[in-house]
Amino acid sequence: MDFIPVNEPLLNGNEKKYLCECIDTGWISSEGPFVKEFEAKMAASVNRKYGISVCNGTAALEVAVQALRISEGDEVIMPTFTIISCAMAVTKQGGVPVFVDSDPDTWNMRVDEIEKKITSRTKAIMVVHIYGLPVDMNPVLSVANKYGLKIIEDAAEMHGQTYDGRPCGSFGDISIFSFYPNKHITTGEGGMVLTDDEELAERCRTLRNLCFQKDPRYVHEEISDNYRFTNLQAAVGLAQLERLDEFVSKKRRMGKRYTEMLSDLKGIKLPQTKDDHADNIYWVYGIVLDDDIKMDNRTIVKKLAEKGVGCRTFFWCMHEQPVYTDKNMFESEHYPAAERLARRGFYIPSGLALTDEQMGIVVNRIENIINEL
Ligand SMILES: Cc1ncc(COP(=O)(O)O)c(C=O)c1O
Repeated sequence: MDFIPVNEPLLNGNEKKYLCECIDTGWISSEGPFVKEFEAKMAASVNRKYGISVCNGTAALEVAVQALRISEGDEVIMPTFTIISCAMAVTKQGGVPVFVDSDPDTWNMRVDEIEKKITSRTKAIMVVHIYGLPVDMNPVLSVANKYGLKIIEDAAEMHGQTYDGRPCGSFGDISIFSFYPNKHITTGEGGMVLTDDEELAERCRTLRNLCFQKDPRYVHEEISDNYRFTNLQAAVGLAQLERLDEFVSKKRRMGKRYTEMLSDLKGIKLPQTKDDHADNIYWVYGIVLDDDIKMDNRTIVKKLAEKGVGCRTFFWCMHEQPVYTDKNMFESEHYPAAERLARRGFYIPSGLALTDEQMGIVVNRIENIINEL
């Protein structure tokens, strides 16, 4: 039985050609010409002035948080239902994540809860678009404006998505993308910080590079990391970016097909196909088990793996992470919708290389497991 992986990227465009150029010219480090070209083209693709490439999306969040000078005691409002990178970027700087619950249908942060969480220490809102639909940005922009808060937009999963026709990644003071292989655009590992603010862009460039100074170079005034991105990664990224529209259309077709095939299956809730601001781009195709299914997401993911289908459970909430609760943080906090998604949600193979035949097999095996119950 062939195993169907949860993700497989498509690398059959100009990736090889551009990579060979790196080898032939000897440009393999972060100094190579593809890096600047990829930064400029990514920025242009989301109507941003500046793109600063880094080694992954987590590093991009860290640079964004540090660039905004979020430090000891500063609060950043974010969804509890997200990846740990969001909370860690803040806590690494001594900041405090402050959580909101999720919408049970779009799986995105409850934007109506943001204002209630604002205190005198709130510095920023970290918006995270989850799994395929964008966060409702208009209320976020107005609350940020009302209280003078910064916005960090985590568009890691949102290549090619828009909100009311405006690209995700173009909102807020600073935005980020990831280029991990499960993203619509991959560079193997990689990430980018984007902004329209020249000073902030320059600060991000310094932060990704150990805070070397222009002159004297080897004198450092701030702690940071080496988060540089290589010409090899940029070569792959440029080839991928050329096909973004095609990739987004393919993902939408795949999402539609899964929905058609799974819609008669009882006991599961499928992703919302669209909301008032966008059509789903199905970064991943998520499924949430109904309460009458007597199995949690971890069990079903294990059962599907035994049947040759690679799946992943949804994110585990930030307020329930041992790395924080062991330090008595977020004690007695509860976010019922997010907690339910974390326990009942999982996503099925959704990569760009997935074939129609494989999708049929995936659906068949899910049906078998659910119908056996
Ligand atoms: C919403 C979100 N933010 C940040 C990241 C981190 O990106 P990376 O894996 O490139 O560090 C991810 C990764 O999947 C993500 O989904």
